[in-house]
Amino acid sequence: MNDLQPIVDGAREAFSKARTPADLENAKARFTGRSGRITELMKGLASLSVEERKTLGAAINQAKQAIEAALNERRQQLADEELQAQLKAEALDVSLPGRRREPGGLHPVSRTMERIEQIFASMGFDVADGPEVESDWHSFTSLNNPPNHPARSMQDTFYVDIQGDDGIWYNLRPHTSPMQIRYAQAQVKRWAREGTPEAKREIRVIAPGRTYRVDSDATHSPMFHQCEGLWLGENVSFKDLKVVFTDFCRTFFESDDLALRFRPSFFPFTEPSAEIDIQFQHGPLAGRWLEVAGSGQVHPQVVRNMGLDPERFIGFAFGMGPDRLTMLRYGVNDLRLFFENDIRFLRQFQ
Ligand code: DAH
Repeated sequence: MNDLQPIVDGAREAFSKARTPADLENAKARFTGRSGRITELMKGLASLSVEERKTLGAAINQAKQAIEAALNERRQQLADEELQAQLKAEALDVSLPGRRREPGGLHPVSRTMERIEQIFASMGFDVADGPEVESDWHSFTSLNNPPNHPARSMQDTFYVDIQGDDGIWYNLRPHTSPMQIRYAQAQVKRWAREGTPEAKREIRVIAPGRTYRVDSDATHSPMFHQCEGLWLGENVSFKDLKVVFTDFCRTFFESDDLALRFRPSFFPFTEPSAEIDIQFQHGPLAGRWLEVAGSGQVHPQVVRNMGLDPERFIGFAFGMGPDRLTMLRYGVNDLRLFFENDIRFLRQFQ
């Protein structure tokens, strides 16, 4: 046995030097492999006497067992080390905040739209919705703005490659005003269908939605929002426009500390026409006049185009900019921020 001790020690040393399972298996081959030292000794037994074979054989077996025990021990060690390294590499930092799914919220402009709808609904206005791809007739001609009229150039349009059966071109609507015509025409049909009594025939509607123009800077975006308003009846006057719009602004901005100014202007579809400016009395914008809408008494020709008698139906219309109202309400100075969809910006309005 003592003769074999150096071999066993040699094996232990070789095993402990092995750094990987592959190193270890190579080292093992040198001792118990097919031409390893122990295997060679075994082969030598054949030439010995029975007595010698017995003693030496037992000694070799013992050495072999010792080597195998050392081998298994080192295999286990290497496996443990590998596991530890893997655990370390794949470690989870449980103190990191998790990725949460945050509750969504309404876009600030959507909030404004909802507010506008609520406020006007409370004043008895219907809320209507209409097409964004609109015919040239609805966008312009029906609104007293015939082909080649200079006022058209103020609303440079996105034309689409569609021409109706009637030869009329289509465009992305540059304003929500076509909804005046569409809504009124639908009402006329409904009154006839339902036999609405003459005295109850009245049009009171707002039409919010997306609009498009070739315009892009800090206060203009090629896609923007408008909200049209229309009130036609037997006796609706400019005075009512002032009352309704002033009431709306005070409710919208939650402040009575607000002045309105109706500044003479021109629109083909109203006569007289006015731009509506508001002035905050306090806060960072105090004292400045800010334009928020166009408005006026609806032109008799437009009333005719609706299929109504301008002697019976008079009233006002307005078109306002919900994007502008949102900027004023929240103190945002660049319109483009609303359409970049940066979640860090939008989250502030939740
Ligand atoms: N459509 C006009 C524009 O986009 C705004 C407007 C002005 C609408 C006067 C109206 C109105 O209904 O009466 O510039």
